[in-house]
Amino acid sequence: MSEQRQKFYITTPIYYVNARPHIGHTYTTVVCDAIARRHRMFGHDTLFLTGTDEHGQKIERSAAANGKSPQQFTDEVSGEFRALWDRMGITYDKFIRTTSDEHKRGVQAMFSLLQERGYIYKGSYTGQYCVSDELYADDNTPGTPCPVCGRITETVQEENYFFKLSAMAEPLLKLYEENPNLIYPETRRNEVIAFVKTTLRDLSISRTTFSWGIPVPGDPAHVIYVWLDALCNYATAVGFGSPLPADQQRYAHYWPADVHMIGKEIVRFHCVYWPAFLLAAGLPMPKQIVAHGWLLFEESKMSKSRGNIVRSETILEVLGADALRYFLFREIVFGQDGSFSFDALVQRFNSDLANGLGNLASRTLSMIQRYFGGEIPYPSATIAHTPAEAAIARLAEETIVEFNRLFDAYQFSRALEALWGLLSAVDKYIVETQPWAVAEKEDRDSRSRLGTILYTSAEALRIITALAHPIIPTSTAKIFTQLGLSDISKTDLNTLHWGQLNVGTRLGKIEPVFPRADKSAIERMQQMEEERKSAAEAVAAPEATPAAAVAVAPAVPAPEPVAAPDAPAPLSPEITIDDFVKIDLRVGTVLTAEKVEKADKLLRLTVDIGLEVRQIVAGIAKAYAPEALVGRKVVIVANLAPRKLRGIESQGMIVAASLGEHGSPALAAFIEAVPNGARLK
Ligand code: MSP
Repeated sequence: MSEQRQKFYITTPIYYVNARPHIGHTYTTVVCDAIARRHRMFGHDTLFLTGTDEHGQKIERSAAANGKSPQQFTDEVSGEFRALWDRMGITYDKFIRTTSDEHKRGVQAMFSLLQERGYIYKGSYTGQYCVSDELYADDNTPGTPCPVCGRITETVQEENYFFKLSAMAEPLLKLYEENPNLIYPETRRNEVIAFVKTTLRDLSISRTTFSWGIPVPGDPAHVIYVWLDALCNYATAVGFGSPLPADQQRYAHYWPADVHMIGKEIVRFHCVYWPAFLLAAGLPMPKQIVAHGWLLFEESKMSKSRGNIVRSETILEVLGADALRYFLFREIVFGQDGSFSFDALVQRFNSDLANGLGNLASRTLSMIQRYFGGEIPYPSATIAHTPAEAAIARLAEETIVEFNRLFDAYQFSRALEALWGLLSAVDKYIVETQPWAVAEKEDRDSRSRLGTILYTSAEALRIITALAHPIIPTSTAKIFTQLGLSDISKTDLNTLHWGQLNVGTRLGKIEPVFPRADKSAIERMQQMEEERKSAAEAVAAPEATPAAAVAVAPAVPAPEPVAAPDAPAPLSPEITIDDFVKIDLRVGTVLTAEKVEKADKLLRLTVDIGLEVRQIVAGIAKAYAPEALVGRKVVIVANLAPRKLRGIESQGMIVAASLGEHGSPALAAFIEAVPNGARLK
């Protein structure tokens, strides 16, 4: 009788397409990828899901601000996510888009099911809404900041469908009580329980003020709340709501998910709302929801709105995907916030990969090549065998157990530390046994001893490489090929043991796997990031919030007679005068202008704005020579929080129209004489 393979279904959050992917998104995705790869190496029937969250007001606004239709915009950004995951070696089995028909059908099925079961009613709602987080901030008063992101919430007044979340407090608490492992780590579980005990109000689950969403079945004036839409992806991706028998079987097989991996800021949606929807619908619960911390850059959470993101592509181009993957697992203590820096990345790469694993592989393999003609030698069990070999073999066996235990407990950094402990022990063993000196002696015992030392080193290398494979798949696959072994991903982790390396295996072609990175690698990556940021600055791409969209006014059509570009971008959504007056636009005169070193798009300006002189770094160097700007009147956004560009503080932003495909800037100017400091209203 054939035994049924254990199934394992893991998901990432589906990412919003209003922002391009950065290493924060990469973090979650890489963690899931390594977990999925390991499950496959244990022989499990694994399904790894990722995708993009494409509906809602935020996306609609971003599309408009970029002059694109929502569908065109989401197609593009969703494609960027997929392309990046392919380059990062992400082995997702399915990529779901919330604009797909299968998903829309499933979400409508869920809505109808909740309705049939009496958990949905129609009522009216007046309250505060954060568009950026797509979150109802029930405790906010108008004009106050969102409790999650700090942006000012908007007043919404609508007739909506509501979900009876208030009725779910007791069943939810019972669920948490009976399933202590449902929410991981413990701190998040405690927060969730505290939240459910104090504040559960009914949840508005439809909107009528915009249309970029999934229509409520039978009432298309309403679109379904984006979080209900998004959360359902985990079930619709495996066939929920499909009338086709094959899909229904797939759903029955894979649902519930084994792990939903998320960042800590979306715990409430996953640990309160999603279980509440599932309880109300009478559907099985995911087995575990795991929340990790944030990746910080320059001391704050990496995010588009803070302008402190690092793109994975930069690291990919300079050091390769495995360098970033290794760093994220080794350097960040899973569950806690952790900092990213290019210095730390390169340091880890050099110490652990280039000098560590890469060096062990090249010295072991090249000695086997030189002394044994490229064939794995015989390890003598008698005369040439000493306690040193036995110690390495024992440590390797212990490391397999320890690595597996720590990895399965989400202690990735400690798991790698244990594995690299074995690596250092082997390095030390090689230094102490001096195979190069043994090779100089020509007697039979020495030859036997040399074979034993090199077999021991190669076998340890095989085990380290196999265990590290899910984390650094590309380089470990190369080392396996050099060891003369075939497809590393087919290694059975259930039976990985010391002594499985066959004597006589012929090595493959030996090549360096991790070339050492020098200081210039850091500079190159920093420069690539700066150039990307200044290009974005030059285009002055608007944020999702209406206030910022007005501040940079990119949607204004280009003035004649400049070569007419494409059709003007559509207008941004309406704002109130209160939104507008928050932006302090002032007239100033450029006093000095100079190029910023090693940044071909940036100019450093000093601008007299009547009250004071400001330093402004602007991405306009391609359009304006510095000398042409001195003495010119300009408009600046004077109350924008300062930020650093190429290490230089920019104390405001210059206002320009953005022309043509590449967003070439044309500075705002006046015909009349205007004094410095005059405010634009
Ligand atoms: N679309 C929602 C999720 C819906 S899931 C049904 C969303 N999208 S998001 O694009 O904002 O992605 C958030 C997720 O990306 C985080 O929960 C986390 O997994 C990952 N990260 C984004 N920035 C991050 C950091 N700076 N650090 C760590 N993870 C980060 O929320």
